[in-house]
Amino acid sequence: MNASHWILGPGAIGRLLAHSLAPTCEVTLIGRRALPLFQTLHSAKGERRTQSITCATPAQLTQGAPAPPAWLHITTKAMAVEPAFETLHALLPATTPLVLWQNGFLTQPELTNRWPGPVLCASTTEGAYVTGNDRIVHAGRGHTFIGNLNGRHTALAQALAAQLDRAGLATTAVDDIRRRLWQKLAVNAAINPLVAIHGIRNGELRGAAYASDVEAVIREVAAIMALEKIVAPDGGDEQDSWRALVWDVIEGTANNKASMLQDVEAGRPTERAAILGPLIAAARQHGLTVPILEALDKALAKLEARY
Ligand code: PAF
Repeated sequence: MNASHWILGPGAIGRLLAHSLAPTCEVTLIGRRALPLFQTLHSAKGERRTQSITCATPAQLTQGAPAPPAWLHITTKAMAVEPAFETLHALLPATTPLVLWQNGFLTQPELTNRWPGPVLCASTTEGAYVTGNDRIVHAGRGHTFIGNLNGRHTALAQALAAQLDRAGLATTAVDDIRRRLWQKLAVNAAINPLVAIHGIRNGELRGAAYASDVEAVIREVAAIMALEKIVAPDGGDEQDSWRALVWDVIEGTANNKASMLQDVEAGRPTERAAILGPLIAAARQHGLTVPILEALDKALAKLEARY
């Protein structure tokens, strides 16, 4: 068996990681409530794989006093990272490498500065969703990038990328994870708040009723990216590069119910603090006004206050 992995947050990405690593590594999936031992993964091609995956609550781990893991992956939503991490903190040597799998850019800098051990951030385009306590669907194969925000721990990032790659999740260690997290955040900011507020699928943003709103968000996001010196994935730093990226993703995910819309429909807190928060904070730092992003943030806060 290879190194042991604790995976905190048994959502879709957490369970996808557990399914992938379990055949070759010691894996413990950690969540607030107990999950069935036998977990099933359905692939997009209709294949099915059931395997036993050790699941535990933080209380059970604390009582059992297990050997600490070689890796702690945190796969909760951004706003759940702090309370979830708090439940395990006392069990972890300060040298334990953390791997943060969140969207946005909220907890990544915070934990990178605070945790004494190595902190790696992951940005993934793997598509998965939960269909029950004991099953997930791996809907689309993607790619995962792993790196440290300060360009440190290169060998560790490479070792983890190789392990994930061997486990079937295409992964590359990179030295520009900050840029990649902000690029993903830019796309998320242009799509997620609008679809969550209007209760629509991504593709509906192409319609006359919403397209100008998307354009307005892109203009503000592109201005912030330019000030933060984040180039688009095509290497361009002009508004057109961001426009092309956002409309491509809308096209490619036209049938999707975006994650923020799913959160609103389920009455869960959204990731607005992790997605809009860093953009609005960066705009303020640069003395830039971003009325559209601020209005979206307020509208989402109002929606969340209802439940
Ligand atoms: O959050 C999501 O759902 C996705 O990141 C995206 C790109 C908005 C597509 O649905």
